Amino acid sequence: MRPSAVIILAAGEGTRMKSATPKVLHQIAGRSLLNHVIEAAAVTEPEHLMIVVGHGSNAVIEHLEEVAPWVSTVEQTERRGTGHAVRIALTALVEAGVSLDGGPVVVLTGDTPLLTGTTLLQLLSAHESHSAQATILTAELDDPFGYGRILRDGSRVSGIVEEKDATDEQRLINEINSGMYAFSAESIVGSINSLTTDNSQSEEYLTDVIELIATGGGVVLGVVAPDSNDILGINDRVQLADAAAIMRDRINERWMRSGVSILDSSSTWIDVDVDIAPDATVLPQSVLRGPTSIETGAEIGPGTTLISCEVGESAVVRHTWAELAVIGQSANVGPYTYLRPGTVIGARGKAGAFVEMKNSQLGDGSKVPHLSYVGDATIGEGSNIGAGTVFVNYDGVNKHHTVVGDGVRIGSDNMIVAPVEIGNGAYTAAGSVITDDVPPGAMAVARAKQRNVEGWVQRKRPGTVSAEAAQTSQDDSERLSPTSPENSLDN
Ligand code: UD1
Ligand code: CA
Repeated sequence: MRPSAVIILAAGEGTRMKSATPKVLHQIAGRSLLNHVIEAAAVTEPEHLMIVVGHGSNAVIEHLEEVAPWVSTVEQTERRGTGHAVRIALTALVEAGVSLDGGPVVVLTGDTPLLTGTTLLQLLSAHESHSAQATILTAELDDPFGYGRILRDGSRVSGIVEEKDATDEQRLINEINSGMYAFSAESIVGSINSLTTDNSQSEEYLTDVIELIATGGGVVLGVVAPDSNDILGINDRVQLADAAAIMRDRINERWMRSGVSILDSSSTWIDVDVDIAPDATVLPQSVLRGPTSIETGAEIGPGTTLISCEVGESAVVRHTWAELAVIGQSANVGPYTYLRPGTVIGARGKAGAFVEMKNSQLGDGSKVPHLSYVGDATIGEGSNIGAGTVFVNYDGVNKHHTVVGDGVRIGSDNMIVAPVEIGNGAYTAAGSVITDDVPPGAMAVARAKQRNVEGWVQRKRPGTVSAEAAQTSQDDSERLSPTSPENSLDN
């Protein structure tokens, strides 16, 4: 049954993160902790989703408008406990005219990014099939320290006791409260106003509603999470890194099972929004971020970071950093290549070693093989850009655009000073500084003509190694010359 509402508690400060960023906005796998929880909740298709914000609420609300504009928020100005937070969320729902007559009310926390929709569906299905008033998601931990402990009376739960309020005997219980629950609307609304602050932390404990519901004759269940990682809460950077590693392994396993080769899972970081076709290969130390997509047969890495890129079928991308770039089918990129936003490499194109490209389109079969900067250029098909060429796009104030046609051969070490247009099939000589348009089929030579000043070194740099070497050369050529005395017939 669809929940009538999901409430996510996210007002806490998260002091142990020691961060200017609110805890729930820290990210793993390209998504905030809070948005991971929202995505899991969304699987249950709740009628309403209400998030209790507090610490850093402006930043949290701004983030939510961007990633989940369909959710509502309510501000908890003073952190007076989990029970208080749920109380103001229920009040906000009622004030917004939301009817809670339908499905259950689910309560989650915003710092458990490994929670899955599947686990929530299991919680809801147990809740429904037993006609429970409350169902708690629990976990059995070897070290339950710090968590609330589940008190059982046979198969029913009779209460939850917090670590700080527990007796020594209760602290030995391994089954803990994850802080995630499904309630019948009636029982949560009926008990939330009866909470007191009569406990070691002087807070309104949400956990106290469990005892209230149980003693009132309600059915309270504890459902053990299938994977105890699902309930892992993040309180500091160590737990953040642990959760990131678990999520990385989950994501990588999913891709490997769907036919993607990942050679070294522990050094491969793939964001949740990435899409990879079967028979693609990801080599070690590669990071795929944002909505990157990789087609079949492509080989990514080693040592490659792609941010929001599209990689075509059978393309090869080695030791590359690329952002918002499109790499065509069977194209070849790297090693040591930097592709900046707006780069498009056509089918069978090449951006080779030590090449940087920005806001430039390279046509099908065109190549920039070595040591070049291509900025603000449109290059046609089947063209070749010689080693060490720079597209001089910046005049110090404005950027200008260059157009290079099809079948063009730019010589090595050219400076192509934009704006300029090089026609189809044109050639440019090595070392040229191209400042004017080149007509189709022309050869542009834009460099000083070579002049040799004979004997200059021996005259101006006598006694140097260069002068000595020059002298040796001169001696050799005189000795070997047919007119020299050594070679005459008289000898
Ligand atoms: C709570 C549970 C505990 C459980 C643990 C699981 C209570 C009394 N205890 O303890 O049984 O084992 O979670 O992690 O509920 N929050 C608010 N407003 C508040 C207080 C908390 O929004 O006034 C939010 C926090 O941001 C956090 C969540 O509620 O996301 C849990 O609060 P926290 O203080 O961490 O509760 P615990 O003491 O860990
Ligand atoms: Ca906690």
